[in-house]
Amino acid sequence: MSQSGDYDAVRKDIVAQLKKPDYDDGSAGPVFVRLAWHSAGTYDVASDTGGSNGAGMRYEAEGGDPANAGLQVARAFLEPVKERHPWITYSDLWTLAGVVAVKEMGGPDVKWLPGRTDFVDDSKLPPRGRLPDAAQGADHLRHIFYRMGFNDQEIVALSGAHNLGRGHKDRSGFDGPWVNNPTRFSNQYFRLLLNLEWKPTTLSNGVKQFNYSDPDAPADEKEEPLMMLPTDMSLLSDSSFLLWVKKYADDKDLFFQHFADVFGKLLELGIKRDDKGSVINTDNVRGGYVS
Ligand code: HEM
Repeated sequence: MSQSGDYDAVRKDIVAQLKKPDYDDGSAGPVFVRLAWHSAGTYDVASDTGGSNGAGMRYEAEGGDPANAGLQVARAFLEPVKERHPWITYSDLWTLAGVVAVKEMGGPDVKWLPGRTDFVDDSKLPPRGRLPDAAQGADHLRHIFYRMGFNDQEIVALSGAHNLGRGHKDRSGFDGPWVNNPTRFSNQYFRLLLNLEWKPTTLSNGVKQFNYSDPDAPADEKEEPLMMLPTDMSLLSDSSFLLWVKKYADDKDLFFQHFADVFGKLLELGIKRDDKGSVINTDNVRGGYVS
């Protein structure tokens, strides 16, 4: 057991949990990033409800939301880390795991501060339906992400996380990776989104996505198709989104910088800090937070 507050020791143990030879593409990194995002992405600025505080996915109301299908795997991968460092809150652990995973997969340093609480404040519980529905389009993305306080540029930068991981038929119903190397953080997602010919495809489960298969690959070397979600494709058909897709496809450093900023901001939603960065009033006062 490490000393309370030794986040470097926690980071090390998260790194040790990343390598998973028998799981997906060999890494828990992508699903850690998704866990961090879904833990925070329920936030609503107007009512100051939702967000990563409270680690609500431990409970059925949030954990059982169909939008969170599959994230129990990520939480189970992190359980040994919690056992070795019982002083860390789940809400800090899940958000930190996303930050560590991005870095280990070759992405930028994302600023992360501790202090989230696992105290569940019933008055802050988010209703289901706050996370995005991948079958929809640009209006829906704006509706969901403006609610969290993000703008168009930030929506596109956040979407660049789809450089990582894959859709799973038994989780969301979508199937396949976005890029050829889904455990390496890069701006490849934007380049492929812009440059490949994506074909509308209906999977055997009825789910509609967009696929690309290399037509020149020899039959015996055919790789699984790459995919885009309808929401990913909507970034191309909206001029304000498209502007940023092009910038990020052209400029990896700009994307890394903007992704680091916006992912850090996402993980802070609903967390109130004083000017030294300490969290204000979360662990010992029932009934909410000082704003
Ligand atoms: C995976 C939807 C934004 C990170 C997925 C999947 C869907 C989805 C349907 C497949 C899940 C599965 O079957 O396992 C969306 C939609 C978004 C969005 C509609 C709206 C823009 C984000 C954001 C992030 C993110 C903001 C992080 C910053 C990921 C990652 C995966 C993923 C890393 C791969 C998970 C894995 O491999 O297990 N997303 N997502 N997504 N998403 Fe998103």
